[in-house]
Amino acid sequence: MRILVTGSSGFLGAPLCRALESDGHRLLQLNSRNCDLTKQASLEQFSGERYDLVYHLAAWTQAGDFCLKHPGEQWVINQQINTNLLAWWAERQPQARLVFMGTSCAYAPESDLSEDQYMDGEPIDSLYTYAMTKRMLYQGARALHRQYGLRYLCAVPSTLYGPGYHTDGRQMHFIFDLIRKIVRGKELGEPVVLWGDGHQRREIVFIDDFVRALLALVEKADNDIVNIGAGEEHSIRAFASHICRIVSYPEKSIAYDTTRYVGATSKCLNVAKIRGLLPEYSPRPLEDGLRATIAWFYEAKAWQQ
Ligand SMILES: NC(=O)c1ccc[n+]([C@@H]2O[C@H](COP(=O)([O-])OP(=O)(O)OC[C@H]3O[C@@H](n4cnc5c(N)ncnc54)[C@H](OP(=O)(O)O)[C@@H]3O)[C@@H](O)[C@H]2O)c1
Repeated sequence: MRILVTGSSGFLGAPLCRALESDGHRLLQLNSRNCDLTKQASLEQFSGERYDLVYHLAAWTQAGDFCLKHPGEQWVINQQINTNLLAWWAERQPQARLVFMGTSCAYAPESDLSEDQYMDGEPIDSLYTYAMTKRMLYQGARALHRQYGLRYLCAVPSTLYGPGYHTDGRQMHFIFDLIRKIVRGKELGEPVVLWGDGHQRREIVFIDDFVRALLALVEKADNDIVNIGAGEEHSIRAFASHICRIVSYPEKSIAYDTTRYVGATSKCLNVAKIRGLLPEYSPRPLEDGLRATIAWFYEAKAWQQ
């Protein structure tokens, strides 16, 4: 197949492109340097080719308190990126299926995080703008499906982890931040201070498991929204305990700063739908995924940044 991927240089984009290429597909890989999607005409130069599939992964965001500090910019930039992509899809590539990423932050905290509730209620305040741009992307695809019959799939990931994360100093997703702090505690003797009281709960999905599940889902689901989660969550203290064991750092040396921003207290996607669609779906055990991620951390010297 001929496939266009936006966000191809990202943490998810890079392994997804590798997997698609090894499956024999012909790819056009876009990032902000070869196609700035905030510019309305940015995709025009690629209109000559007909694509069977468009994976739209590009988004302007980071982890930590980035969304809290940049809501205005995030609204404008992500709306531009998504609107330009949707308009080009409808006008120039209506034969292509569009596969794009949602976010678990779009769910209202009181929902049971099942797909039929993606647009219901209010996302948490600190991630409201980011969450709403993702909801708008979903609604845009649904609207184009309704009016023109365009085909789409919205995949909603929980937090992804594994080798190959960014090492450019940007704010890290919580699991990488935990690993970084604990490894620095071990290697440099720095104090390890984690945000919150450690009882907030999170789920994570190993990047390769996510890519495999996404590729399988594309074969099974159409004009639909599907969560891709681990199906189980753990407290920050439990994650820290695993990491301490793997790197041989004393867990009791960890301090908790309850004055820092922690986001939602619990976030675990409902995975009934994906289990129905992909009965073989089974994310790897946490310990295995953490070991692989920590090995990469040392290899890439990611803890030194
Ligand atoms: N990682 C997660 O845990 C997670 C969880 C839930 C949802 N998601 C969603 O999954 C998708 C991929 O996530 P990720 O972790 O791979 O993100 P990422 O590592 O931050 O990558 C973002 C990608 O978007 C591109 N991009 C940013 N601004 C752009 C612009 N103006 N024009 C064109 N491209 C632009 C970046 O290109 P440059 O490299 O050139 O900047 C990069 O390729 C995103 O939509 C994200 O919201 C991710």
